[in-house]
Amino acid sequence: MTETMRIVVTGGAQGIGFATAETLLSENYEVIIVDKNPDTLKEAGKKLNCETANFDVTNETEVADFFASLKEIDALVNNAGIWIPQQLSEMSLTLQSEVIQVNLMGTVHCTKYALPKMRKTSKSAIINLTSAAAKTNSPGLGLYAASKSAIETLTQQWALELAPIRVNAVGPGLIVTEGTSANYEGSAREQRANAVPLKRVGEPLDIAEVIKFLISEAARYVNGQIIYIDGGVTAGTTGR
Ligand SMILES: NC(=O)c1ccc[n+]([C@@H]2O[C@H](COP(=O)([O-])OP(=O)(O)OC[C@H]3O[C@@H](n4cnc5c(N)ncnc54)[C@H](O)[C@@H]3O)[C@@H](O)[C@H]2O)c1
Repeated sequence: MTETMRIVVTGGAQGIGFATAETLLSENYEVIIVDKNPDTLKEAGKKLNCETANFDVTNETEVADFFASLKEIDALVNNAGIWIPQQLSEMSLTLQSEVIQVNLMGTVHCTKYALPKMRKTSKSAIINLTSAAAKTNSPGLGLYAASKSAIETLTQQWALELAPIRVNAVGPGLIVTEGTSANYEGSAREQRANAVPLKRVGEPLDIAEVIKFLISEAARYVNGQIIYIDGGVTAGTTGR
C-alpha cells in the first residue's frame, strides 16, 4: 500500500487555492489549507473537510512555526497572492511593497520552511503561482507582474538548487475567482472572453487540474517549467 501524500496549499480559502485543494482531496491526497482570512478559511475547511491553518505568509515566524509543527509533507502549492493595479506616477509604495511581501516573500518563507519537511526525491514537488501578466507586460499593474517575474526566476533557480525535488510554476490567465469577479461583471466577461484565443475566460478548476498533474507521478520528469494556463493569451497576438 502506498502512503497518502500530504500537501500544503496557501491561500486555500477561496479561488484557485480552494479549487486546487478540492481537486487534490478528490484524488485522496491529504491537504492542509493555509489562509490569512479566518472566516473564509473556517468555511472552506468545513466544506472540504480538511485541515486548516490560519496565518499570514508574510509573517516569517508564523510560517516557521507552522511548518515546524508538521510531519513530513510531499508537496507545497505557493498560491497566496494579491494584486493592486496602479500606475507608476500614482503608486503607493506602501501598498506595492505589500504585493512584494505576499507574492514574493510569502513564497520564499513557505518554501524555505517547508523544505526540511520534504523528502529529497522527485516525488516531492513545489508549485509556485505566477501569472500570464509576467509575460504580457500590461500597463498599470503596479509591482504585481514584477513580483511574478521574480517568482518565475526563483522557480527555475530552485529547480536547480533543490533537485531532485521538482519545482515548477503555473501562470493563470484570466480566471474568474472571488478575488477577480469584479472584473467580469456585465459585458466585461464577454469582452474579456473575446480577447482569449479559446474564446472563454478560465475557471479555477482549469488551473487546479494542471497543479494536480504537476504534483503527480505522471509529471516525474517535469522540473523548472513555467506553464501558462491562459487559453492561448501568451502565445502571441491574432488578427494583425
Ligand atoms: N484569478 C486570476 O485571474 C489569476 C491570474 C493570474 C495569477 N493568479 C494568481 O493565482 C493565485 C490565486 O489567485 P485567486 O484569483 O484565486 O485569488 P483570491 O483573491 O480569490 O484568493 C486568494 C486567497 O489567498 C489568501 N491570501 C492573500 N494573501 C495572503 C497572505 N498574506 N497569507 C495567507 N493567505 C493570503 C486570501 O485570503 C484568499 O483566500 C494568486 O497568486 C494570483 O496572483 C490569479
